[in-house]
This record gives sequence, structure tokens and C-alpha cells, in this order.
Amino acid sequence: MKYGYFDDLAREYVITRPDTPLPWINYLGSDGFFSLVSNTGGGYSFYKDAKLRRITRFRYNNVPADEGGRLFYICDKDTVWSPAYRPVRTPLDQYRCRHGLGYTVFEGKKNGVSASLTVTVPMHCDMEVQKLVIRNDSKEEKTLSVYGGAEWCLWNAVDDSTNFQRNWNIGEVEVEGGTVYHKTEYRERRNHYAFYSVNAPADGFDTNRDAFLGQFRGWNEPLAVEKRTSFGSIAAGWAPVAVLRVDLTLLPGESRTLLFRLGYAENPEEKKFTALNVINKEKAHAMLAAFETEAQFDAALKELRAYWEGLLSRFTVKSSEEKLDRMVNIWNQYQCMVTFNMSRSASYYESGTGRGMGFRDSCQDLLGFVHLIPERARERILDIASIQFADGSTYHQYQPLTKRGNADVGSGFNDDPLWLIACTCAYIRETGDFSILDEPTPFNNEAGTEVPLLEHLRRSAGYTISHRGPHGLPLIGRADWNDCLNLNCFSREPGESFQTCSNFESGKAESVFIAGMFVKYGQEYADLCERIGLKEEAAAVRLAVSDMEKAVLAHGWDGEWFRRAYDAFERPIGSRQNEEGQIFIEPQGFCVMAGIGGPDYGRKALRSAEERLGNEFGIELLAPCYTEYHDYLGEISSYPPGYKENGSVFCHNNPWITLAWCKVRDGNAAFDLYRRNAPAYIEDKSEIHRTEPYCYSQTIAGRAARTYGEAKNSWLTGTAAWSFAAVSQGILGVRPDYDGLTVDPCLPDFMDGCRISRLFRGTRYEITVRRGDDKGLTADGKKLDGCTIPLTDAPVCSVLVTI
Ligand code: GLC
Ligand code: GLC
Repeated sequence: MKYGYFDDLAREYVITRPDTPLPWINYLGSDGFFSLVSNTGGGYSFYKDAKLRRITRFRYNNVPADEGGRLFYICDKDTVWSPAYRPVRTPLDQYRCRHGLGYTVFEGKKNGVSASLTVTVPMHCDMEVQKLVIRNDSKEEKTLSVYGGAEWCLWNAVDDSTNFQRNWNIGEVEVEGGTVYHKTEYRERRNHYAFYSVNAPADGFDTNRDAFLGQFRGWNEPLAVEKRTSFGSIAAGWAPVAVLRVDLTLLPGESRTLLFRLGYAENPEEKKFTALNVINKEKAHAMLAAFETEAQFDAALKELRAYWEGLLSRFTVKSSEEKLDRMVNIWNQYQCMVTFNMSRSASYYESGTGRGMGFRDSCQDLLGFVHLIPERARERILDIASIQFADGSTYHQYQPLTKRGNADVGSGFNDDPLWLIACTCAYIRETGDFSILDEPTPFNNEAGTEVPLLEHLRRSAGYTISHRGPHGLPLIGRADWNDCLNLNCFSREPGESFQTCSNFESGKAESVFIAGMFVKYGQEYADLCERIGLKEEAAAVRLAVSDMEKAVLAHGWDGEWFRRAYDAFERPIGSRQNEEGQIFIEPQGFCVMAGIGGPDYGRKALRSAEERLGNEFGIELLAPCYTEYHDYLGEISSYPPGYKENGSVFCHNNPWITLAWCKVRDGNAAFDLYRRNAPAYIEDKSEIHRTEPYCYSQTIAGRAARTYGEAKNSWLTGTAAWSFAAVSQGILGVRPDYDGLTVDPCLPDFMDGCRISRLFRGTRYEITVRRGDDKGLTADGKKLDGCTIPLTDAPVCSVLVTI
């Protein structure tokens, strides 16, 4: 069943009913100010850091779900309604929510009045602007009261939801005309404030939540709205809000546009005040002046559209598969941008208060982002590398605001260092910018420790080489990619973090997955060394890679598939010797991508994965699922069977299998897996899948689960970047390379061909793929050997590939 449809021309997903199985959300903002917005107007905003600079409040486990957010009320005689359906929940005569790229439009109609609410965060602007157009479609004059509002969060989102004895005393606001300023803690150590404003004389306001709502009432029925008034309340502690009221009279056919603006500004210490405790509002005034008129708003939306048009034109495909095209051309790339911006911090499932930016996550996110804005990828790589330690290990996470490593999670995730090689090589192949390798980059952010970025890569590789176990395989540490395979943590303490507890440092538990990674990224590092003239180093790394390959073949191959690991007692995991957890997906993906054992082992491993782990939504993480908790395995066995790491389809690693199928040149198997969980392909199963049909989720419950097919944790997942890599570089076969663009499609038999447009190093490659006997590649009419088109200065290069 569907709850809406794709409008590909407008690049929108149009939701046609408010009761989607879960809130279906969108992201606004691209730089400093970010907002989340659900299909009923819920969500929250923050500046750069969802933990430390939360602007509006959100209750993740509220009942009913998704309350608060954008608080719009329209009073028309006795009827009160909201253009986005919520918060009032009055049934509408018409409801539509159009999620577009960086903006969302709600179109509501009730009793002859239509309201269109467009919300966006304009580019280069720390403000969410909400344009509300109200039109009287009826035959009579309408006298309406319109309210717009927001509930402030007291900045630190963790403190805001825990430290009530203090918080109920500190809330402060100022009101100036149609603007409410939120200035909690501004009197002391904060130099930032927020504001909510309407571009019309306000007929009333409230800033004290309890006054506005009245006792025993929720956002759906505020007392002030019921009485069609405002109390002019000024918050003193408790919960500050900003609610502005504008009364309108509209003749038949007449419409009125209001701009509500939610902004954030910072002042230098010496310019904080204009009088005792009075905010210097210069910045807010300037920001508001920039969005005072509808024309200014429309121009900003146009700029945003043009921006996305430009970004997305860097890679487009036209094929016989409409769903493939819409994933590649629009939604997958859009999600790559969102994961780049957010890492795993803020969604409806990630509270924004815990994880900050992940080292491995952000490195992988770059794989799907680097072609969009390479300059930002460059900056990110250097930020990430700066939290690495001198021995090559690294902090696992960092806070985006401070860019400092997160001490409570610490280090010891032994896959982390290698991801830095993966993203740096991807960046250089995309841009040809070898200069990034010379960039002075500190360890642990300590001034004075800077070494060229290349040295960080060297230490990453070195860390794996020097941390190996009894079988010559890499030590797993606290965990590798699979955060829940905790082989050195024997936890019996409820609530103890599986990732940070390592109370049994065996010095023995090993990961076949990291071995696969090392073979793949070690080779990439060796290639890079060779290119920059480090021949001896390249040779040494290749030797280490080949040793690792041997170790995998000797100890990591189970006969029909690759094993997963060795535990603290040197027992295999992911082997037919085990009762449960006999086969895991991760090493099948990575060892085959790395080419270990060649295509024969590859096909065998992939067939085993399909047979034992395949379901209609993809490949499950492991089988059989663990039915009980084992302290020597850790968190993986804490989840009920079929959920999360214990045997769901953990979407992130499915594209590894797709890429692995491409590696062994099986286009049918690759595509068959791709389409099983590509959101657009399962749109009509929305009542089962439940999360948004336009973005990937982290997991889809496996066959062993009670809710097989149900997805969870949408948006912030490495699935976005890897799926884009799988479809663009594997199936469509367009791979940036140091010396040129490789075009080597691996299409399913039913596809006759496709057209691809790819901007690469300043040249637009217009690629036609077709089937025929005359196999091979011509570029601008010239037949080439192999499938890499050498770099050219030409603005356009036309490529014909016959497969
Ligand atoms: C989550 C984490 C990621 C990890 C994965 C598997 O998605 O963000 O870092 O690799 O789970 O455990
Ligand atoms: C939990 C999740 C896993 C995530 C980890 C770290 O273990 O199952 O997916 O990576 O937390 O936050």
C-alpha cells in the first residue's frame, strides 16, 4: 500500500494522507542551521550540533508521537485547524505534504479556506523561514485568527531533558513587536540567542507555555487558541515558547502571505548587550530584513532549487527503470547529503544527544558524497583525521561543534583507521587533488603534533599490520564495523555499554572482516604510495596485503563462505561449527570485494549468503539468529532474533554484496539484490516497511522477527553512501580513477542499456551504454583499450559503451 507518490519532475515525494505508518520526515538546511520536519509539521531545529545548540524542543518518545514542532493554528468561526493536520488534528478537506530537496510544503484546506505552508532553511542563512499563504476560496468574507509558534529548547538538549530543578528557573525571553527572542542563559555564558518572528504586526503573543496551553491541555487544543486570544504572557522560567497571532479578514478570493522566521544568532562577547541584560539584536534585525517579503522568500527557494539542480546534474541516469532512475537521480544522492551533514546524530531515531559524528560512519558517508561537493569532503577528511591518535588508532566519535574526540566512547574499534584510507583515496580519485596528502594534520587535535595527512594513512595501515592475533588476522578490539560483535567484553551488568566495556582484553579475538578491509584498502593504499613515488613502501604494503590474504584463506574460509571472526578463546564465529551465527554477511561482502580467493571463492561465498541469508528485502546479517545471550559475543546476542545486528537485513552492508556480485560480474544477482531494498522499489509495501519510501533505513526486520519486513531507523545510515556507490560504481559501472573515468557497467540482462551523464574533473561525460556484438568503449569516436577514458580538457566527452 502507498501513502503518496513520487513527483519526479518536481523532485518531490507527495504524501496524500497524514496517517503514514510512522512520521515521514525531511531535512532542511545545509550548513549551520538544520531542521527536521515530519509530514505533519513536527520536528526540531538546531544550530550545527543537535546536542549543544538545540533550538526547539522535541520529545522522542512522546505520546502521541511527533507532537510539537511547527505550531500553526487557523481559527475560522468555531473551527480550529492546522495546515499540516497537526497539532490540532481536525480532519481536513484536503491534505498534502510535499517533501522536496531542502524544503517541505503543506497544503491544507478546510471550510473554503486553503493554507499553503512552505518551510525551508534558505542557503547561507541561520534561519528557518515558514511561508504561510492563506486564501479564502469561499463566497463569503472570512475573519480568521492565525497563530504560528515554537517551543524553545534550553540549548543543551541533554540538560534540557534532565536538569529540571535548574531549568524551570532560567527561561528568559524578550518581546519586541512581532518578534520573540529566546535568551535563556544569555545573561551569563552564552553568546547566542534565538528568535521567532512574523513579518506583520502581531495582534497578540504568548511566551509562557503553560499560559498559552492552559491546564490539562496539549498542543492540539491550547486555551489561548480556543478563546481566540493571546495572553501576552512573558516567560519567567518554566517552559518558554514563542507564539504569535495575526488576525486577518479575507474577502472571497483574497489571499494573504505571512512569513514566520525562526532564527539563531551569535554576538561577540563585547557586543552582547545594548542595556542591562537587553540583547543586542542587530544581527536578528538584519536576518529578518533579508526575509521580509514574499519575493525574498521565493528567490531563496529558487536559489535552493538551482543549487540542487546543479548538484544532482553531476550524476544522472536515464534507463528503462523509472524507479532506478529516481533513486539515483534524486533520492539516494539527497540522502547522501543528509548523512554527510548529520552523520548519525539527529533524526527521529537518533536523539542528537549521543553519538556526535562517527569516525567510521563519516568516512563511509564520504563515499557517496565526494562527487557532490568535493571541497567539503576535503575539509571533513581533515577534521576526521585530526581525532586520530599517533599510534594509528582513533577516537570513535567527535562533536561537530568542538571537533574534539569523544572521550566517553574512546577508541579501540579496530576497523576505524582503515576507513580513513578508503575515503581519502576516494577523494583523490574524484578530484585528482593529491595535495590533501600534504595537509598538516594533528593527532588528537593537539597543536604541535601536525604531520602530513599521508602519515595518518600510513599509521592507519600500520595499526592493522601491527595488531594481529594468533591466526595472523587483525585483532578486533572493542568491535569492528559490527558494533555489536563485542568479543573482548564479557558484560553481565545491566545497562553497561557493550562498546565501552572491555573487561577481558584477550589480545586474541580477531576479525576476518577487518582482514577483508585491509586487503581492499591496503591495496588502495599501496597503489596510492606507488603513484606518489613511494615504491618501497608500496611493495612493503603489498607484501602485508598478500600475507593477510593468505591468513584469510588459511583461517578465514569455512569451505563454503568466509568466517566472521575468532573469539577470545580462538574459536571460530560464523562457521558451520557454530550452532547459531553460522554465516555472517560482512566478510562475504568485503572479502569478495577485495578479491580474496578470486571469483570462484567469491561466487561460492555469495551464493551461500543468498541461500542462507536472503529474503525478499535483502540479505540478513547472520543466520541462524542467536536465540540467547552469550557474554563472549556481546550485544549482537542481546537483540531478539531478526532485529538489528542479530539477523535483520542491516541495509548498510547489502550494497557490499551488490558490489561483490559486480566484482564477480553477475549483473543479474547484483540488480536483484539492489532492488530488494531500494526504497522506491518497495514503496507499495509501505504498510509493512513503514518508514519513508524515499530514503533508506538502517534495518529491516528479518524472517526470524515478529515483524518481518518492518524497517527502523530511517535516514542516518551508511546505507545511503554505499547504495549510491553500489549502483553508480558497480551496476552502472562509472568509477572515478586517478587517470580517468572508468566505465564498466554490470547491468542485469533485462536492461538493454542506459544513458549516464557524469561530471568528472571538469568534463561532462555523456555516456551511452547499449548491447551489441561490437563490445568495447569509444570516447569521442575513438576506440579505447580497456574501460578507462583518459582525462581530457574538453568540456564534454561522449562515450559509447557496448556490452
Ligand atoms: C550503526 C553504526 C555503525 C555500525 C553499524 C553496525 O549503523 O552507526 O557505525 O557500523 O551500526 O553495527
Ligand atoms: C547499538 C546499535 C548499533 C550501533 C551502536 C552504537 O549497538 O545496535 O547499530 O552502532 O549501538 O551506537
